[in-house]
Amino acid sequence: MFAIVLGAAAGGGFPQWNSHAPACRRARSGDRMARPRTQASIAVSLDGRSWLLLNASPDLRQQIEANPCLHPRDGLRSSPIVGVALTGGDVDAIAGLLTLRERQPFTVYGTRRVHDVLDANPIFEVLARDLVVRRPVVLDEPVVVAEAAGRRLTLEFFSVPGKVPLYLEQAGSVPPIVEGETVGIAVADGRHRLFFIPGCAAMTEALCRRLSGADLVFFDGTLWTDDEMIRAGLGAKTGARMGHMSIDGPAGTIAAFRSLDIGRKILIHINNSNPVLLDDSPERALAEAAGWDVAHDGMEVTL
Ligand code: MLT
Ligand code: MN
Repeated sequence: MFAIVLGAAAGGGFPQWNSHAPACRRARSGDRMARPRTQASIAVSLDGRSWLLLNASPDLRQQIEANPCLHPRDGLRSSPIVGVALTGGDVDAIAGLLTLRERQPFTVYGTRRVHDVLDANPIFEVLARDLVVRRPVVLDEPVVVAEAAGRRLTLEFFSVPGKVPLYLEQAGSVPPIVEGETVGIAVADGRHRLFFIPGCAAMTEALCRRLSGADLVFFDGTLWTDDEMIRAGLGAKTGARMGHMSIDGPAGTIAAFRSLDIGRKILIHINNSNPVLLDDSPERALAEAAGWDVAHDGMEVTL
């Protein structure tokens, strides 16, 4: 199977529109060590012709134009994008659905919870219901999303610890970390398995077992340290408060994955405050020394 990183940054992207922080200034100035990144999404394909998007980033239009495999090939109107699978209801996961209006058939896969969010928001009616199938998935049950040359591409959604989307938080209260609001997606073609987990609040025993033996894992790389946004003066929230585990530290991602048997590990959904984005940072060197790659837009992987 084929996978392409359409966007590697967390919500806001890199640089973020209103950020004048040093790293965003570097990205804007064309510094080759601080490459811009759009908001997180990957595309997967069995045959390189039909593609499934994992999340619909607010930057989707730009991502489609940047990746010729996603351009129309036939007739006056067509698209190789046959489906979109959603890991949650966050803006950076669903806003790109609005880009996919214009009466084009495809299927939206997501949990009942995410479909409820879409159904409750009339702006998503721009996806004509007679053409765009809204398909609820059951956790832990693989769904066949493509077939080619006798092979099948399946997606399996599974719960990871997370929180409600930011815009659904109750004012004045801290949302609990729960199961079922945020999911990871396993993509399998009968030979290989890759995982897409752009948001995860904590590593659990069950998640360790599930990931063990995977060929490739794209994992939540939002923050390097839990309080980096506070220390940089960029915001009042910790990573834990936002539903993201951090890369560094005793309970961090590097430590959590150290004993897992995984072919390739790639950080994705990386916030613009995270120094791992910078090719010349000590944090990048530490991540690479621990066996992690840092996703960038346009990164291609073949399994
Ligand atoms: C997140 O990943 O925590 C959310 O995308 C935050 C947001 O919605 O801005
Ligand atoms: Mn996000």
